Amino acid sequence: MLDITNFVSLLIALLTMFWIAMRAKIFSKKRYPPGPWGIPLLGHLHLLGDNPERKYLQWWQRYGDVVKIRFGSWNAIVVNGYDTIKDVAERKDDVFSGRPNFVTQVVLREAFGGIEALTFVNFSPKYLQLRKRTATALRSYLSKCEYCPEDLFREEAEKLTEKLLRYPSDDAVSVVSDVELAVVSVLYQMLYGKGKESEIAPHLNSIVETTATFNKFVGSGNIFDVIPWLQYVMKGKVEQFKEAVLSTDWITKAKIEEHRLSFQKGQTRDVLDALCDLSADLPSCESVDSVSSLHLMYQVAALQGAGFDTTSRTILFIILYLIAYPDVQERVQKEVDDVLGSSKIVKWKDRDTLPYLNATIYEVMRKTTVVPFAIPHYTLNDTELRGYDIDKDTVVFLNLHSVANEKSFWGDPENFRPERLLDEDGMLDAEKCSHIMTFSAGRRRCVGDVIAKMNIFILITTLMQRCSFKKADGHDVDFEPVRSLVLSPKPFMVNVNRRY
Ligand code: HEM
Repeated sequence: MLDITNFVSLLIALLTMFWIAMRAKIFSKKRYPPGPWGIPLLGHLHLLGDNPERKYLQWWQRYGDVVKIRFGSWNAIVVNGYDTIKDVAERKDDVFSGRPNFVTQVVLREAFGGIEALTFVNFSPKYLQLRKRTATALRSYLSKCEYCPEDLFREEAEKLTEKLLRYPSDDAVSVVSDVELAVVSVLYQMLYGKGKESEIAPHLNSIVETTATFNKFVGSGNIFDVIPWLQYVMKGKVEQFKEAVLSTDWITKAKIEEHRLSFQKGQTRDVLDALCDLSADLPSCESVDSVSSLHLMYQVAALQGAGFDTTSRTILFIILYLIAYPDVQERVQKEVDDVLGSSKIVKWKDRDTLPYLNATIYEVMRKTTVVPFAIPHYTLNDTELRGYDIDKDTVVFLNLHSVANEKSFWGDPENFRPERLLDEDGMLDAEKCSHIMTFSAGRRRCVGDVIAKMNIFILITTLMQRCSFKKADGHDVDFEPVRSLVLSPKPFMVNVNRRY
């Protein structure tokens, strides 16, 4: 309980903070973007409620493309709409390409002995080096890998199909863990090499479990990131978080060591081989301008972390939309039957011949935008945006969800209509698809986008060739997502039927 003295002290502290904020606002010559009124300490967090996407859309309507908010202790802006987000993400001076030094990042950096994941590294010469080499490694994996990546994606898609078809067709089943296992299995073998199912199974389970614990812990935003001083009050929680993120580190370490010993120049068994090759000219120790060879190889962990939830959640949302819109599912299946029949295996080059299926995948990506505000960006210097001043050290949320809901472009963004992405000849409309910003844009755009698209296309086509999904009787379809770092569908039940 607060006694009267404490209450008065608290009141004085709040009023002082309010006065400082007002004085800064009144006397500042700067023209900051408009935004809602916040309160000390929390800023605008209390206003976001249980649906931040909806609140940000309301603020977009009210204040425009650039909205100033306070994210707990941080100055922040929310950037809305395709044109303004593109401007920010593609700025030549990269002033918006930083990442904030949130407590989560500090804890991760400490836990991994100074090594940082590409996803969270602030913009710097080191970031550029990591980004360029990681992107090159992914490209060389796709073009040079001894075991064709497409075969890997297809093999896992077929395994998943077989598994789902083993469920009695009358049973209401959840497909979440099967889809998760298929995705983590692809990622694992893509990064670390082909492995026998029985040998890699414990690793896969461990990665899935760690991700679940991590998400539970972090929820839809780590409280320490918002109010950094809480880390000193809740030390136990910080330690738990460290433990959670370190629990699969032994797998990464063991795989790096294995690859270091067995790597031969000119061979690409997996992404780690490609990274190994590209790390040959890097120093063994970290320096100011250069990452170490170990740092580059450790990026497999970043790819694992960034690729798993995003891909599996997207696939689950696609299945959810297919059961909610049986007419769309039938049209997808008819297209697959006409182009591939029941047994011809699908290849990535077939994608142009399956425009409706692709339009369905893109439309689900638009409707769900599973990482709605991207990963927070950060300003590196004072700058200007749409006539407003933006200070150095401002957290920048790219509201990708706003792009998916831009009425002026989509007309009826609230409706699920895959055909909106087809042109007059029934082909995929590239211009409209490029307006779907699920993978963000510019310098920090998702580095795994091509791999994600290939994997999802091959998996959904294989499933549609052989299975039909139906909403299980007595179970409703709910599109409202579960909010975490990545949005996911609420648990849902389906019947899986064999088509042939
Ligand atoms: C449907 C699947 C996926 C979606 C929706 C997705 C979405 C995103 C988004 C929105 C960002 C943040 C971009 C920004 O901050 O502006 C991102 C970053 C990133 N993604 Fe993905 N992603 C997916 C799959 C993957 C896969 C499969 C990989 C790895 C193989 C991957 C690796 C990364 C990495 C490393 C970054 C950080 C890039 C950087 O900061 O430079 N993602 N992704």
